[in-house]
This record gives sequence, structure tokens and C-alpha cells, in this order.
Amino acid sequence: MRMRKKKHCSERLEQCSQLWIKEPEQYKGKWSEIFGNDNPIHIEIGCGKGQFICGMAQNNPDINYIAIDVVPDVLVLALEKATRSELENVRLIIADAGKLCDYFEYDEIKQIYLNFSDPWKKSRQAKRRLTHKNFLDIYKKLLKNGNLICFKTDNKALFEFSLNSFAQENFKMQNITLDLHNSKFEGNVMTEYEERFSSQGFPIYRLEAKYIGWN
Ligand SMILES: C[S@@+](CC[C@H](N)C(=O)[O-])C[C@H]1O[C@@H](n2cnc3c(N)ncnc32)[C@H](O)[C@@H]1O
Repeated sequence: MRMRKKKHCSERLEQCSQLWIKEPEQYKGKWSEIFGNDNPIHIEIGCGKGQFICGMAQNNPDINYIAIDVVPDVLVLALEKATRSELENVRLIIADAGKLCDYFEYDEIKQIYLNFSDPWKKSRQAKRRLTHKNFLDIYKKLLKNGNLICFKTDNKALFEFSLNSFAQENFKMQNITLDLHNSKFEGNVMTEYEERFSSQGFPIYRLEAKYIGWN
């Protein structure tokens, strides 16, 4: 996501310090303490402006959500949205997906959402795709066997790449749709990108990938 540099980004982050977790490494294995309960923890990687995570948190008060984005100028917008909505079951961190093992303990995460991840179209950029094997190896450590990664995108090439990547890495795929908005799937919460692309007539691809054990 290209984003113009936000004025006063660090001050704005500080103003929402209740939901912004500045040093996530301190909470590795202890995220339940932050939420004050043992509810399952779901994370969204690449949350953008936060519409999805705020909608999910509103709809599911018994789930704790952690929104992650690597770009502070983007995350601050999600943070302000969650703060305005007075959500108690959301926290946000600025982090690169490649570092998630520094912030979460093995099996600490119940579900991962990847929504409209950057496609990185050139094949030499494939390693940056959030469904590349290198990232799936990280997600495997965070998820218990049987837990899910929910992935949606408008990008056919990224979807094809991801199908192969999940299959090669021992994930079992389910509920695959090539047209989410005309499928039987219930409870979809749209992201900002999803609203934009579906309003332009693009179909939305979605799948759930269940990790079924170490290779
Ligand atoms: C195309 S945007 C989609 C935003 C949002 N999920 C949506 O659907 O509206 C992709 C987001 O992923 C973030 N991102 C890209 N690579 C990342 C990484 N390695 N770790 C964390 N976030 C990443 C970008 O900063 C950007 O905000």
C-alpha cells in the first residue's frame, strides 16, 4: 500500500497508546495478560487501515484480535479507527511478518487472516509474498495443528501462487471460492481493498488453509 507520509505519525501513535503495543516482544507467550482473558487470539497480517479488524472485533467480542502492519503511517489509521470504536478486544502492532516468531509463542495464535496481501508481481519478488513458503514456515509455528489461515484477494496470479504454496507446505485447503460475494459464505467483513475492487466488478477469491502437521 503506497501511503503518503503522515504528519505527526509518532504523536498520533502515542495518543492511542492504550491499543498500540509498542514493544510486542515483551508479550511473547503472554498476550492473554494484555486482554485480561483467555479468549482465542486471531491476527491479521497487513491490516492496512483497519476496517476488517474493527468489524471482526465488533462482531466477535469473545475473540481477541491483533492487527499487524509493517508501515507505521498505515497502522496509525487502523489504530485511530479501533480507538474511536472503543474496542476492547483489539490491539495493534507495527511489525514485519518475517519477525512474528519474536512476538508470539508457538501455538499462541488460533487463526491468521491475510487480506489482499501485496501481490509482488515480478517472480524475483516472490519471496515477499505473504503466502511464500518462508512465511508459511513462520505461520506453522504460531498455529496449532488444525488451525486456519483465511486468505482473500482480488489477484488471480497471487491466488494461484498461494494455492500451490499452501499445498506444498502441508496445508489442507477448504471453502475455496473464486467469487466470494456470490458464494454461500456468511459473515464476510469487507476490507478497504475489497470494497474498492469489488465495486469495480472484480471477483474476490478466498480460501481457508488448515495446517495438518509438520512435514
Ligand atoms: C494491499 S494492502 C491491503 C490492506 C488491507 N488488508 C486491505 O485489504 O484493505 C497490504 C498491506 O500489507 C502490509 N504489508 C506488506 N508486507 C508486509 C509484511 N511483510 N508484514 C506486515 N505487513 C505487511 C502493507 O503495509 C499494506 O498495508
